Amino acid sequence: MINLKPIKGYLDKIEIIDQRLLPIHKEYITLKTVEDLANAIKTLAVRGAPAIGIAASYGLCLGIKDSNREKIKNDFYNSYEILKNTRPTAVNLFTCLNRMKNKFEEIIEKYEINQIKEILFKEAIKIEEEDYIMCRKIGENGYKLIENLDNINAMTICNAGGLATSGFGTALGVFYMAKEKGKKIKVFVPETRPLLQGARLTTYELSEAQIDVVLLTDNMAGFLMKKEKIDIIVVGADRITKNGDTANKIGTYTLAILAKYHNIPFYVAAPSTTIDNSLPSGESIPIEFRGSDEIISFNGVTTAPDVPTFSPAFDITPANLITGIITEKGIFTYPYNF
Ligand code: MRU
Repeated sequence: MINLKPIKGYLDKIEIIDQRLLPIHKEYITLKTVEDLANAIKTLAVRGAPAIGIAASYGLCLGIKDSNREKIKNDFYNSYEILKNTRPTAVNLFTCLNRMKNKFEEIIEKYEINQIKEILFKEAIKIEEEDYIMCRKIGENGYKLIENLDNINAMTICNAGGLATSGFGTALGVFYMAKEKGKKIKVFVPETRPLLQGARLTTYELSEAQIDVVLLTDNMAGFLMKKEKIDIIVVGADRITKNGDTANKIGTYTLAILAKYHNIPFYVAAPSTTIDNSLPSGESIPIEFRGSDEIISFNGVTTAPDVPTFSPAFDITPANLITGIITEKGIFTYPYNF
């Protein structure tokens, strides 16, 4: 049974498991300001689309001090801007910030000054609780795809688990559900360079939940699919557009092409809050590019100094390569109509 609480929100602080230190150290760090949180998001101390959205929702409460209405407004919009400019790709960040902004605008003139922060905080708690419920439902829906199989061999990429959400996960939620139902399941995990979310986080989570895990480097995925019986691939998503194109961790697109070639069902698992119906296709998803330092060194050792790098954090998998999109509302198939 998975038992993770990556984010703990309080009225005046947020505690997060510092995901940069896993799996060697499981350590909570305390964030007391919006700037602390923005830095934690940018450096991936807290990461994963739903988790970023949840943390940002609590973050909007941090900036508010009980002073006067004008000052509260200033502080709120200032925090909103800072958090909005942390990472561009995952839509959950913007959905959560906007939901909190709507709440703020609904209450700011109506309530006593000392009630504002408390009401916003309750909204953030609601966002976190809803995420947990959606993830369990995604797990249940995804489980239907494998309930008739035994000795399941599955595959994923990056970390779309408890750490990336309120605690249960999306893609990994499907595997946790299978485990809960008594299925024997083994999960193959590409390490997910450059920041190794697969190697560091997914293997940690799955092992903690006593699920068999096999680690491979990213360039071994094709040969793995040829040599082993892989029953299903389930990945997470940072943003899904109206037509089903999906942004997820760099390397997802490659896996989808390999899956097609090897006839392996390729599923995306995400809450419906990851669907951005305002964008017609993946072409318009803003892709985050990261600094060269994450590519030119390994484990603190420089491997290729002074070399130009190409380092997108995400790629787009076209809808027609995705067998189905598992959400809390059910499983959608191509052509997508959410
Ligand atoms: O750069 P990261 O680690 O934030 O990227 C995370 C992913 O790509 C996840 O697959 C995605 O956010 C879904 S998390 C449930």
